[in-house]
Amino acid sequence: MTAVPDALPKRVRLSTLTTLGVGGEAELWVAETTGELAAATRAPYRVLGAGSNLLVADAGVGERVIKLGRAYNDVRGFGAGHGSAHDVWLGAATPLPGLVRRAAEVGWSGLEGLLGVPAVLGGAVAMNAGTRFGEMSDTLREVEVFVAGGLERLPADALGLSYRHSSLPPGAVLTRVRLRLTPSSPERVRAQLARVDAARQGQPKSKSAGCAFKNPPGDSAGRLIDAAGLKGLRVGQAVVSPEHGNFIVNIGGATAADIVRLLELIRARVGTPLRAEWELWGFGPGTLKEVTCAALSS
Ligand code: FAD
Ligand code: EPU
Repeated sequence: MTAVPDALPKRVRLSTLTTLGVGGEAELWVAETTGELAAATRAPYRVLGAGSNLLVADAGVGERVIKLGRAYNDVRGFGAGHGSAHDVWLGAATPLPGLVRRAAEVGWSGLEGLLGVPAVLGGAVAMNAGTRFGEMSDTLREVEVFVAGGLERLPADALGLSYRHSSLPPGAVLTRVRLRLTPSSPERVRAQLARVDAARQGQPKSKSAGCAFKNPPGDSAGRLIDAAGLKGLRVGQAVVSPEHGNFIVNIGGATAADIVRLLELIRARVGTPLRAEWELWGFGPGTLKEVTCAALSS
């Protein structure tokens, strides 16, 4: 049997492309070139990174789902540290965990706070991913986006990056990003990574999409959910993690409907208003009233 080339769209279950392991079908377009991006963006679409901040509906999504292929997974000029700063252009499909490791090996500092974020660069920029040790905006200088049929460069400060938020131009697909890293020593970088790792020790290893809710100003959603006695609360196969209250874990075969019900129960029982950090794909406009579709073209 002949394998289907990546460039051809195919129906896939998004549960296989998201870390929560939940979500129905969509038409997947894997783009390796600008021409393929142009073809893929001719009908309404969404952009998928590593699927680590997504809750996709059981019925899937009607729009095309575009994923950047191997051609966008690269590390250009990423070598040993020297001089005062290192600018690198990286494809938006470059996985963050490998990048953080590689930077540590060569003694480049700036990405340590992103240890443990299972994203690709495009998704990490779109969410301005981070921890209290640092976020994507610390090192981001410039991006290349595919928008309105062509490639454009935008400075980082045009992206409105704030806590777990960006304002990309509507429909923009991040294709490459320019980061500025600082020379350090592998030992110093490793010491900082150890601090970040220690702060993550309370997080569960089971299937999740990270924290479900953003932290309210000055507090932690996980602490609030814990204080409300909700750890272990279960709907179907979806459970509020007994380890960290802001993680919903799929203990095997959870549905998106289970998870939405659980999120609603949490929101109803925690006194403080909680805003979703996850992106919800394929749900009605009222679901959790916080659905954001930054990369959805219409
Ligand atoms: P996806 O989830 O696939 O997509 C997220 C958004 O980015 C969507 O709007 C999507 O359309 C958009 N997007 C993706 N790629 C592109 C592109 N090329 N162009 C335009 N838009 C694009 N997050 C944190 O901030 N800090 C943490 O400490 C953290 N820890 C986590 C731990 C675990 C175990 C897990 C599972 C998740 C964690 N997360 C954390 C959440 C998640 O990893 C981040 O939100 C991450 O930035 C999502 O990136 P992604 O590549 O998976 O994007
Ligand atoms: N806490 C509890 N019970 C819990 C969880 C937390 O009491 O179940 C308490 C902790 O003891 C601590 C405080 O709440 O005093 C903060 O907890 P933690 O250090 O775990 O940080 P967090 O605010 O819950 C944030 C990010 C994480 C990031 C960590 C580490 C958000 C929504 N979450 O969690 O990011 O990894 O800090 O810096 O901002 C994500 O965004 O997906 C994510 C995982």
